[in-house]
Amino acid sequence: MSDRLVAAWQASPLASLSHWQLVAVAAVVFPAIAVLLNVIDQLLLPKKPSLPPHVFHLFPWIGSAVVYGMDPYHFFESCREKYGDVYTFTLLGRNMTVALGPKGSNLIFNGRITEVSAEDAYTHLTTPVFGKDVVYDVPNAVLMEQKKFVKAGLSVDNFRIYVGQIVDEVTKFATQDEAFVELQNGSTEGSVDIFKTMCEVTILTASRTLQGQEVRDSLDKTFADLYHDLDGGFIPLNFAIPNLPIPSNFRRDKAQKAMSDFYMQIIEQRRKSQVGSKDGRHDMIEALMDQSYKNGRKLGDREIAHIMIALLMAGQHTSSATGSWAMLRLASRPEIIERLYAEQKEVYDDGAGGLRELDYDIQKNSVPLLDAVVRETLRLHPPIHSIMRKVKTDIAVPASLASPQSHTSAASLAANKKTDAGYVIPKDYYVMAAPGVSQTDPKIWKDPASFNPDRWMGKGELEPEEQGETVDYGWGAISSGANSPYLPFGAGRHRCIGEQFAYLQLGTILATFVRRYSWKLATRFPDPDYNSMIVLPKAPNNRIILKERS
Ligand code: HEM
Repeated sequence: MSDRLVAAWQASPLASLSHWQLVAVAAVVFPAIAVLLNVIDQLLLPKKPSLPPHVFHLFPWIGSAVVYGMDPYHFFESCREKYGDVYTFTLLGRNMTVALGPKGSNLIFNGRITEVSAEDAYTHLTTPVFGKDVVYDVPNAVLMEQKKFVKAGLSVDNFRIYVGQIVDEVTKFATQDEAFVELQNGSTEGSVDIFKTMCEVTILTASRTLQGQEVRDSLDKTFADLYHDLDGGFIPLNFAIPNLPIPSNFRRDKAQKAMSDFYMQIIEQRRKSQVGSKDGRHDMIEALMDQSYKNGRKLGDREIAHIMIALLMAGQHTSSATGSWAMLRLASRPEIIERLYAEQKEVYDDGAGGLRELDYDIQKNSVPLLDAVVRETLRLHPPIHSIMRKVKTDIAVPASLASPQSHTSAASLAANKKTDAGYVIPKDYYVMAAPGVSQTDPKIWKDPASFNPDRWMGKGELEPEEQGETVDYGWGAISSGANSPYLPFGAGRHRCIGEQFAYLQLGTILATFVRRYSWKLATRFPDPDYNSMIVLPKAPNNRIILKERS
């Protein structure tokens, strides 16, 4: 037999090829066979009818990664046309079942803890960055307790102090940073990269307030470099392939250790020096140092350090992206900037033609247009486009959600041969929510693509019952968001803890800009950039022209 094989090989044209020529042939032939088998598998082999429809793709393992990664919203919408609100796509070897619309979001955000797990989906991306024993490196019940500790630090008393601190940081940045050099040199107009500015202003204000004075002081020194290296670990590649031995991950690991030690030193120093006095500190470290778990164990210093890193990372990109989009949207509608200025003059009138200092209670309750601008920015530009969970046990998807409803054309419905029964999403699949899709659904919103803060004024466009009932997972009552088409902060047990802080921070930064400047776009409105984990405005159209108010 082997002699015959050898003879056949010698007679074949391949035998005359050199080693490298053979490698080249193999490099073409094997992938081609893999593609062929993958296509046959999808088109010809029978599938369990209970599985959600699977998005057709040529390349095994890679699946739809490229089209999804280039423009996730276009991908979601075009698949929705063909398959309905629930469908699976292959993403780098994983089966991802997308569930769209308010019901789809509800299935994922409010899924039972026995059915879906955020920690299993995220831990290999987040734990090397945040550190051990916090957030997704602990069982869910522990995370819920940790969120309660953080909630204690996000108090109204602290927020009252933060407003003045944020104004101070923004004002110093505008008057001292070289990005504003034209305005500092007496010119009435100056062009700035608003994305870069917002990244800097966000970290300056978050460190001055939540993170504490020591972190703020070190921002001008080593902390900024550590932050940069740690942030380099937050890349989609690390979500796709855990523990890759690449230089950015080595830098990430070194920075994680150094930053964790840095926070430990702060805590140690404070414990030594304070002895009963908080020295008037109102930051998160101070709040966490007082916390104990239900079983009486005190929150450890290393855990505090890692929670502080988690908060830094969770808030930085989300808030700086939202701030940038808000400034750019306003730049495209300068008349709204003037309305915001009029709102400031109305509520902060000092009776002598000037403006009083910004104040927490007014910012919270009496600037509806400013509030609406942030809301509307988050409707059009939610920073997180895809939210994932790993499936722990098979999930039954009700027929009402599984049926491709009004969003699907009759032709594609027929092609899709939809059953009346629901689907079953199997264990070890991942589920993906994309609330940004229903946030621009023309069936829900009037003229959904337009930036219109007025849709949030007065009664607004959404019905109150769309917020769902109130639930408490151990860190404060929140609305379940069960039927809401608007969920930029997520919903359920993993709902964002930083929403109130983000509103305070963004509102104060925007109000400070509105009081100092009017502005317009320097070029055209930027497209979204989906290359990082967060949706950012694409360079080079990030610049705005600021004009100082007289
Ligand atoms: C979770 C959005 C700002 C801390 C989330 C989630 C979303 C979100 C959608 C849910 C993720 C999921 O379900 O998997 C936003 C937006 C922000 C913002 C749009 C700003 C505009 C902040 C800030 C902080 C923060 C300022 C900290 C001070 C967190 C934490 C979680 C979280 C710790 C994880 C909660 C968990 O898994 O239980 N955020 N966030 N966020 N956010 Fe935010």
